[in-house]
Amino acid sequence: MQAVETTALIEATGLSISFNGSTVLSDVDFGVAAGEVHALVGENGAGKSSLMKMLGGLYTPDRGTIRVRGVPARLAGAKDAIDAGIALIHQELNLVDTLSVVDNIFLGKEIRTRFGFPDRAAMRASARRALDQLGFHAHPDTLVGTLRVGEKQLVEIAKSLVADARVLIMDEPTSALSDTETHALLGLVRRLRERGMGIVLISHRLSEIFEVADRVTVLRDGRRISTLRTAQIESSTALVSMMIGKDFAPPERDADAAPRSRNTVVDVSNLTLRAPARTMVREVSFSVFEGEVFGLSGLLGAGKTELLEAIFGTSAYALEGAVAVSGHRRPFRSPSEAAAAGLAFVTEDRKKDGLMLDHSLEANLLLPSLPRVPGFPFYRRGRLRAWAAERARASRVKHRSLAQPARTLSGGNQQKLIIGKWLMTRPRILLLDEPTRGVDVAAKAEIYRQILEAASSGVTVIVASSEIDELMLLCDRILVLCEGQAKGILPRGEFSADVLIRLASP
Ligand SMILES: Nc1ncnc2c1ncn2[C@@H]1O[C@H](COP(=O)(O)OP(=O)(O)O)[C@@H](O)[C@H]1O
Ligand SMILES: [Mg+2]
Repeated sequence: MQAVETTALIEATGLSISFNGSTVLSDVDFGVAAGEVHALVGENGAGKSSLMKMLGGLYTPDRGTIRVRGVPARLAGAKDAIDAGIALIHQELNLVDTLSVVDNIFLGKEIRTRFGFPDRAAMRASARRALDQLGFHAHPDTLVGTLRVGEKQLVEIAKSLVADARVLIMDEPTSALSDTETHALLGLVRRLRERGMGIVLISHRLSEIFEVADRVTVLRDGRRISTLRTAQIESSTALVSMMIGKDFAPPERDADAAPRSRNTVVDVSNLTLRAPARTMVREVSFSVFEGEVFGLSGLLGAGKTELLEAIFGTSAYALEGAVAVSGHRRPFRSPSEAAAAGLAFVTEDRKKDGLMLDHSLEANLLLPSLPRVPGFPFYRRGRLRAWAAERARASRVKHRSLAQPARTLSGGNQQKLIIGKWLMTRPRILLLDEPTRGVDVAAKAEIYRQILEAASSGVTVIVASSEIDELMLLCDRILVLCEGQAKGILPRGEFSADVLIRLASP
């Protein structure tokens, strides 16, 4: 492990805060040194964001002190924090879509000429320098609204470089990023650390933490449970156990649960999917048996999503070869045809096609099932409600009322809701694409439980994931893809992370 400088950039002690009489953080110590990445972990609601908002000047602690480079600081507002060299990048980014990159970077702190006019040339040049350091080559006049999430993240970081931040706090920066973008961001975090910045990283993806963090602080129910050097932590299971306060044992597919039936329900043979400029999937063949949990493994861009889309009949690519699903010899022509044949598809992008965020949990749960309710459209309201309530309970969606909008749930609970609503349609075949991306560990375990319960009741599951550990817990067999080609199918008895990684690597 590399040596960590000990210059404390921030040293907070005894921080406490409550809202409307309920304690959110009590007596928490936290610090970050120059040249250090300090990760902050904990379940949803543990108080991570609130702690960071105190360091970012947005919340005023009820008790406790914050020292910045040894000097007690009063941070009453974001501006005080920025002046003290602390930049906080929020979970929900804080940029104005209708302004350009440079205008976002200098919002509220324009460089002015000596006549008092905004000095656009100076701002553009300074923005350009910051963006170049980050390896981001967009023009400073680009509208922020046209950028992808990963790029917006870089604009936020550029903003903190321009403001001369010594401490960079990132609240779940990678939860909306693809694997490639995440990889790039973690590389950038390392470079900023080398330059002596202190970085606080909040993330639910423990693999990232083991990859870049020097120290880890665990919060649970508003208390600091522990601060450890990453090298001292035995395993990710040990870390999760600290987060949830009890031994963590995620549910796992029982080796005996694999189906004995050799009824093929999905049969893909010699499938090739072509885009105008490249081949997404090339001559892939496999069969999935009834009641099986079948995994699709591979790096980003390996063709996992494209295969699922081809099975569900929503592929945008020219298809050669054959896809037969539950006896249908032709690919489905629409999602409703697929749904009528007993398929459900939980897509990767839950923001886009997962939920109606402003509608109630009840509406979200019932919508896909309504056409299949006996007697539709003459059904009894009360029965439907009871049915939705039962599903919300079974899927362990933490909620106050079925009438609350889906938007008010945490990410993990939104994802449980999405899977729950598809299970309500009583699918015969469940397709899942990255079912636990951005979800905290406890919610992850519950999603695994739901998937495995469905499988043991006879549902055939095909799950695509970039997390090898997840596939090894869930699946009976795993197909490994690399650049659109099948590299092998491993049965449960032969699972090994090394082999899976090797097969997935070009
Ligand atoms: N401004 C606020 N008003 C009331 N409650 C809040 C406020 N900010 C946070 N909380 C509460 O504090 C608790 C911790 O939230 P948060 O810090 O966002 O946790 P985390 O980031 O670990 O998920 C939650 O119960 C949340 O509802
Ligand atoms: Mg948070």
